[in-house]
Amino acid sequence: MSVRSTIATSNGSAPGIPAAGAPRPGRSDAEIAERVDALIAQMTMAEKAGQLTQYFYFDLPPSEENPEENKDLDLPGAAPGGEADVEAALARGEVGSLLFVTDPAKINRLQRLAVAGNRHGIPVMFGFDVIHGLRTIFPVPIAMAASWDLAAIEQGQAVAAREARAAGIHWAFAPMVDIARDPRWGRIVEGAGEDPYLASAVAVAQVVGFQGDGLGSPGRVIAGPKHFAGYGAALGGRDYDEVNLSDSELWNVYLPPFEAVVKAGAGNIMTAYMDLNGIPAAGNHWLVAEVLRGTWGFDGFVVSDAQAVHDLRTHDFAADLTDAGARAVRVGVDMEMTFGDPAYVHLPEAVAAGLVDEKILDTAVRRVLAAKARMGLLDDPYVDEENARIVLADPAHRAAARTAAQRSAVLLRNESGVLPLTGPGSIAVIGPLADSRRDTLGPWVFDFDLDETVTVLQGIRDRAGAAVEVSYAPGIRPAHRRFPSMFDQFGGTVPVDPPGFDDAAELGRAVSLAEASDIAVVVLGEWQNMIGEAASRSSLELPGGQLALLQAVVATGTPVVLLVMNGRPLDLRWAAENVPAILDIWYPGTQGGAAVADLLFGDVAPGGKLPFSWPRTVGQVPMIYSHTVSHDPGHQDRRYWDEASTPLFPFGHGLSYGQFEYRDLTLDRNHIQPGQTVTASVTVTNTGERAGDEVAQLYIRQRHGTASRPVRELKGFQRLTLAAGESRTLTFPLGPAELRYWNAAVRDWVIDTTTIDVYAGSDSTADLTTSFTIGLPV
Ligand code: BGC
Repeated sequence: MSVRSTIATSNGSAPGIPAAGAPRPGRSDAEIAERVDALIAQMTMAEKAGQLTQYFYFDLPPSEENPEENKDLDLPGAAPGGEADVEAALARGEVGSLLFVTDPAKINRLQRLAVAGNRHGIPVMFGFDVIHGLRTIFPVPIAMAASWDLAAIEQGQAVAAREARAAGIHWAFAPMVDIARDPRWGRIVEGAGEDPYLASAVAVAQVVGFQGDGLGSPGRVIAGPKHFAGYGAALGGRDYDEVNLSDSELWNVYLPPFEAVVKAGAGNIMTAYMDLNGIPAAGNHWLVAEVLRGTWGFDGFVVSDAQAVHDLRTHDFAADLTDAGARAVRVGVDMEMTFGDPAYVHLPEAVAAGLVDEKILDTAVRRVLAAKARMGLLDDPYVDEENARIVLADPAHRAAARTAAQRSAVLLRNESGVLPLTGPGSIAVIGPLADSRRDTLGPWVFDFDLDETVTVLQGIRDRAGAAVEVSYAPGIRPAHRRFPSMFDQFGGTVPVDPPGFDDAAELGRAVSLAEASDIAVVVLGEWQNMIGEAASRSSLELPGGQLALLQAVVATGTPVVLLVMNGRPLDLRWAAENVPAILDIWYPGTQGGAAVADLLFGDVAPGGKLPFSWPRTVGQVPMIYSHTVSHDPGHQDRRYWDEASTPLFPFGHGLSYGQFEYRDLTLDRNHIQPGQTVTASVTVTNTGERAGDEVAQLYIRQRHGTASRPVRELKGFQRLTLAAGESRTLTFPLGPAELRYWNAAVRDWVIDTTTIDVYAGSDSTADLTTSFTIGLPV
């Protein structure tokens, strides 16, 4: 299954969303080039530098608890001045783009300032972190990846694009396509996990969801995949810290999702913050000029991460801001994203000093203006405020979010058929996260509506109906970060200790409710401000008193269902042995609680699969399924003397309410030459008593060659729903795209003469196998 062919079959449309394929208004490339060149010919150097600068403009409402919030944000590297400075720059006609404004009326007001201030009437482009929804919040990206459902992923971002575009936003800083193999890194929640094949497919589905048929498609926005490149491999999992990656890891693991999104036509790429092998990403000629633009032919515009051009100074790389700006624009970073004290305002000086050729500036401006032209901004820069109200309230968007949350949940364990729940008379819902709207939504959302957010408690109450007694106790107070998050300044993100909370009495009350109920549903995990950007951690334990709460509830003898609210794997060793049912619900979004109730009561079956290997303990990380073997492979599961060196749950793991058996793994031929394709087929049967969802997975292993290759590599997958007793035969092509790999010895892609073992099954430990040869004598 090739990434592109899979998603080409879906049309990504929910009601109201123009399908990919709908006619796209706009001008031809030649007309756009002519118009843009005419503008550039009249622009001053300061106006050009302005087009290459994107300013934060904070527009977030103060929270109810603290009306002073959001007034003066303390952001790394921010200069004083803030919004007043930005408006002054707008009045001078020296702003290319603004980010963080989401209110259509404010967008129109700022746009009027921009158009009036610019001698050529060039409007600004509005960008925003539309990560997993704007008003309708979908499950967090790692959860969407866990659905392994490319149509649902595409649809989720199509809904987000429709809301964003209606609000006046032209460009989403998403998807994050960084591979993450170290769950200490908080931004693992924003990506698709550890595997380049799955992550590439998920990334492309998101780009198509955001952009439809390309820039200018109605109701769509520019996708800005990020952070180019290697950001997920931060030393020690510490956000922003240096990254050192081998040639083989870069080409085989970290770069493929970027290459896939470039091929899929993403309009923008954002560079990363950190050094990659000693060179800051925002000033990295090899990355941006050679790989992105040269090898892959990317012709969209490149933006830096926030303050990252300015930071070329703090990297001890650039001499001063003029040097920083010159070096970034020279490698091909077209736009600087800035909190203040921008480097690109110094570009005129840099040109005058001979540090940059004006032609380089013109090329960058051309790319930015072309994006504006394609988005229709040069024709109609304003947004219809009434339409925004209608689109943001669309119930079809909430329905899509509910389906997405159903499909992203992963059933990690289900002993003795505890799930689905069948006719309990009483349910005790336990844990502070069960009743927290803000945490249900997850990190990286700003424009949500808390009132319509359905918590797990609410979802269970609504679904259970009057005949079932649903009681609730938090059991413990919320846990807190030791060091605050920069996002805590945005208001409403810090969990609040309930006033007068009596720890002993509350724990006792939770235990009593569990004792008196037929089933206890315990919701545990991380509070949403503990995951995301600047949310790395040194342990994977359940924060606060959560494990003790779980142990106390389990000790009652009442059957327990554990729901995990998380964006990274947590240390669940005790739960995996002592709790009969564990469902990973992630941060499930606006409709999260409703979807969780649908799953618990069996209205739909879970079918998500882990997009990462779930380690037992932090000491094992990074832990990946696609490792190589060397000395003493027989004891690879015992590399530590104190803990098994296997995951708690393998990559690709996830159960359903059906049972799946795989048989008849066959190939259409057993010998191919390099460049040819072999097609594998396998039959999957639901041998269980209920309908269920499964993601059939195909892996390969190369037996010998010119490099050591991983013991397993994912090369195909397909999600399917099967009724009890139903079978389906699936096919998976294995061609050059699946069989090639980057060989560090020759520094190029190769397909070896070798034997390939093929495995098919439910997860990365699948053992149904067959094999074929490439280029060997028959
Ligand atoms: C993040 C980016 C984000 C940007 C704008 C940065 O700190 O790394 O992912 O798009 O801020 O909010």
